[in-house]
Amino acid sequence: MSGRKGTRDCVLITGGAGFIGCNLAHRLASDGRKVLILDNLSRAGVEENLAWLQATHGDRIEAVVADIRHRETVETAVARAEQVYHLAAQVAVTTSVVDPIHDFQVNAAGTLTLLEAIRAQDRPPSLVFTSTNKVYGKLPGVNFASTGNRYGPKEALLAGRGVGEEQPLDFASPYGCSKGAADQYVLDYARTFGIPATVFRMSCIYGPHQFGTEDQGWVAHFLKRALAGEPITLYGDGRQVRDILFVDDLVDAMLLAQERIGSLQGDAFNIGGGTANTVSLLELLDRFPVLIGVKPDVAFDEWRPGDQPWYVSNTGRFFARTGWRPQVGVEEGLMRLARWLSDARAVPADRQRVAS
Ligand SMILES: NC(=O)c1ccc[n+]([C@@H]2O[C@H](COP(=O)([O-])OP(=O)(O)OC[C@H]3O[C@@H](n4cnc5c(N)ncnc54)[C@H](O)[C@@H]3O)[C@@H](O)[C@H]2O)c1
Repeated sequence: MSGRKGTRDCVLITGGAGFIGCNLAHRLASDGRKVLILDNLSRAGVEENLAWLQATHGDRIEAVVADIRHRETVETAVARAEQVYHLAAQVAVTTSVVDPIHDFQVNAAGTLTLLEAIRAQDRPPSLVFTSTNKVYGKLPGVNFASTGNRYGPKEALLAGRGVGEEQPLDFASPYGCSKGAADQYVLDYARTFGIPATVFRMSCIYGPHQFGTEDQGWVAHFLKRALAGEPITLYGDGRQVRDILFVDDLVDAMLLAQERIGSLQGDAFNIGGGTANTVSLLELLDRFPVLIGVKPDVAFDEWRPGDQPWYVSNTGRFFARTGWRPQVGVEEGLMRLARWLSDARAVPADRQRVAS
């Protein structure tokens, strides 16, 4: 493969118009960086994020509306990047079950296309890849019990610390498989080709600019439905527990990862709100009367594929290497998201879907 040289003038964010990408691009542009967004705008609503970014930051935000599977476009974008954040993805487990091939092509093959473009550079830009806790499946071998409105593991050590990176991989659902394959490719490109790359295995992220739907982004989805006076369907019994992480904290972690890439290269990190920021679906709904003055009607349906009864990240490895820990607690984070949603910036109900 021939090496390529070019002018490196920007930070590339694939999927930069999406929820996390928009928050990351906003931070980078606010810090004076030039941001190149590569996004096909397939997720409903994200064009509003892009318009907002461009209105806020002018020519610090450049957008290429294109698909991560389009090799030449990806190569051109990567050749200009000093750093890359790879977020573009088919993000919903439910959609992956309906169309596993599309899910694979975007998430696994799309990531490989990006990695090849990075490998082709004389001086490969550093890469942070957003993987998922779904690579650990339903945590086989862990026994759960429910107490009150929540599940938890029976093993006290695990309950106290959360899931660490030593947890065996067990890809669950087509989405888990495609993201898991991408996760392993990124780690292997660091190992085999020396690419400065690291992987974040992320739990539930929430915050402003999130167009949450029933398929993905449940915290925003629940709040949006409740604010609109609409009922909420819980798949399973609602006792599922997650550690939730406010997006500003994730952006801090992502910037730190790029800054310290030399020492993080080739490693994966579990990133989430951790044991201090856990909530079950039912517990979240219980907070709504105080938070937004509404108690929504709730219906129950079957569990969905790949759904974990409990998942809480042990973020100790990333803390030990960078000193990062979440700063925004559940109450404050929810208030900030509710405020953004009430500002009527969210998409109307008829567009609340994840486009495939
Ligand atoms: N939000 C979470 O809780 C969470 C948790 C774990 C992992 N992740 C991962 O983080 C990343 C960002 O998630 P998000 O919540 O911001 O989702 P999002 O849907 O808001 O953003 C993804 C962006 O990728 C774009 N996109 C989709 N397919 C594309 C394609 N083929 N080519 C180019 N762009 C494409 C979409 O238009 C969208 O703007 C994803 O990779 C996701 O798997 C998110």
